[in-house]
Amino acid sequence: MACPTRRTKIRTVTVHLGDRSYHVRIGAGVLSKLGDMAGEVTDGRLAVVVADGTVADLYGRAATDSLTSAGFRAELLTFPAGERNKNLATFSSLMDELLSLEPPIDRSALIVALGGGVTGDIAGFVAATALRGLPWLQCPTTLLADVDASVGGKTAVDHPAGKNLIGAFYQPGGVLIDVEALRTLPVEELRGGLAECVKHGVIRDASLLDAIDSNVEPIFACDPEVMTDLVARNVAIKAAVVAEDEREAGARAHLNFGHTVGHGIEAASGFGTLSHGQAVSLGMVAESRVAVERGIFDRTDAARVERLLERLGLPVQLTGLDADEVWRIMQHDKKALGGRVRMVLPTGPGTVDLYDDVKYDEVAAALASLG
Ligand SMILES: NC(=O)c1ccc[n+]([C@@H]2O[C@H](COP(=O)([O-])OP(=O)(O)OC[C@H]3O[C@@H](n4cnc5c(N)ncnc54)[C@H](O)[C@@H]3O)[C@@H](O)[C@H]2O)c1
Ligand SMILES: [Zn+2]
Repeated sequence: MACPTRRTKIRTVTVHLGDRSYHVRIGAGVLSKLGDMAGEVTDGRLAVVVADGTVADLYGRAATDSLTSAGFRAELLTFPAGERNKNLATFSSLMDELLSLEPPIDRSALIVALGGGVTGDIAGFVAATALRGLPWLQCPTTLLADVDASVGGKTAVDHPAGKNLIGAFYQPGGVLIDVEALRTLPVEELRGGLAECVKHGVIRDASLLDAIDSNVEPIFACDPEVMTDLVARNVAIKAAVVAEDEREAGARAHLNFGHTVGHGIEAASGFGTLSHGQAVSLGMVAESRVAVERGIFDRTDAARVERLLERLGLPVQLTGLDADEVWRIMQHDKKALGGRVRMVLPTGPGTVDLYDDVKYDEVAAALASLG
C-alpha cells in the first residue's frame, strides 16, 4: 500500500526573466495543485500531459485528476521511457497524436511535461514547436529534473550525431515539483540528482554542501521537509544563474563544472558504462584536482567535496582511463572553442571561474590521480 502523502509548506522560487518570468512551486503532495497552476498559465480548457510509460503508470492519474477537477479536459500522451527514446521519432509520434486530437488544438492548449529530464526536454520541444509555441508546465519527477533540467528553458531531442543537438530555448509558464514523487525513484537516479546538487554547492554556495552532508540519511529516506528544502535551495541557485545568463554566454557556463571532464570520461568509458551522475562526480573530482595543482583551490576544500561525493555513493576513483581519448572527446565538445578546452575550475568555497588555457598535461595528471 502506498504511504499517505505527508504535506509540507509550499516553497516558491521565481525565475526572473522579464516578461517570461515564472514560478517554481515545491512541496510534498503539490501534484494535486496542478489544475490550479494550469489555470494560471492558460485561458484554454485542454491540457495534454506527456509522460513516459513508467511515470504515466505512477502519476498520470493524479495529474489528470487534478486537471479535470479544475475544469480542464485532460489527455495523457505516453512514450517508452529512456534516453534512447529522446529522439525525433518519439517527437514525431507525440506530435502526430497531439495534432490529431478532436476538436483540433489551438494555441491555448497546455502541454504538461510529467517526468524526468527526458520527458521535460522532449515535451518542452513539442510545446516550443507545435503551432509555433504552446503554453507549458514542467512537473519534474526525478531529482535531476527537479534541481537541473526543469529550470532554464532548454528543450531538445538527441540525434545520432550527438545529444541534445535539435532543440530550442523555450521557457515554461511554471514548474510544479512534488517531492513525494522522489519516493518511488530508484536510488541510482537519486544519486544522479545529488551529483548536480553538489555541483551547485561548489559553484555558488558552500553551505549547501554542509546541508547535504548533515542530511544524508533523511535525503535517502526522501524526508519531505528535507527534500523540499534541498530542492528549493538548488532551484534557487539554478534560477539565479539562468536569470543572469539565459542563453549560455557567460555565468551559465559555470553549470558545466564537472561536466567537461565528466563528458569525456562518460564517452571514453563507453556510453552506458557510467551513469551521467557518476561521470559528473568523477569529473568534479578531476577538475577540482586540476584547480588544486594550479594553486587556485584549497586542497582541504577539494578533499571535502570528495568525501561528500563518497558519502552519497558517488564514485571518486576510476582506473584504466585513456587520457588521450578523454582529451580528444573534450576538444570536440560543443562547448569547446575551436578545439580549445574550456573548463570551469573552483577558486574557493562556493566560487568558480571559466578557464580556456587548460593543458593536456594537467588533465592527464588529474585523470591518473583518479586511479
Ligand atoms: N533541459 C535541461 O536543462 C537539462 C539539464 C540536465 C539534463 N537534461 C536532460 O535530462 C535527461 C536526464 O534526466 P533524468 O535523469 O530525469 O532521466 P529520465 O527522464 O529518463 O528519468 C530516469 C528514469 O526514471 C524514471 N522515473 C522518473 N520519475 C520517476 C519516479 N518518480 N519514480 C520512479 N521512476 C521514475 C523514468 O521513467 C526513467 O526511466 C537527459 O536527457 C539530459 O539531457 C536536461
Ligand atoms: Zn549534468
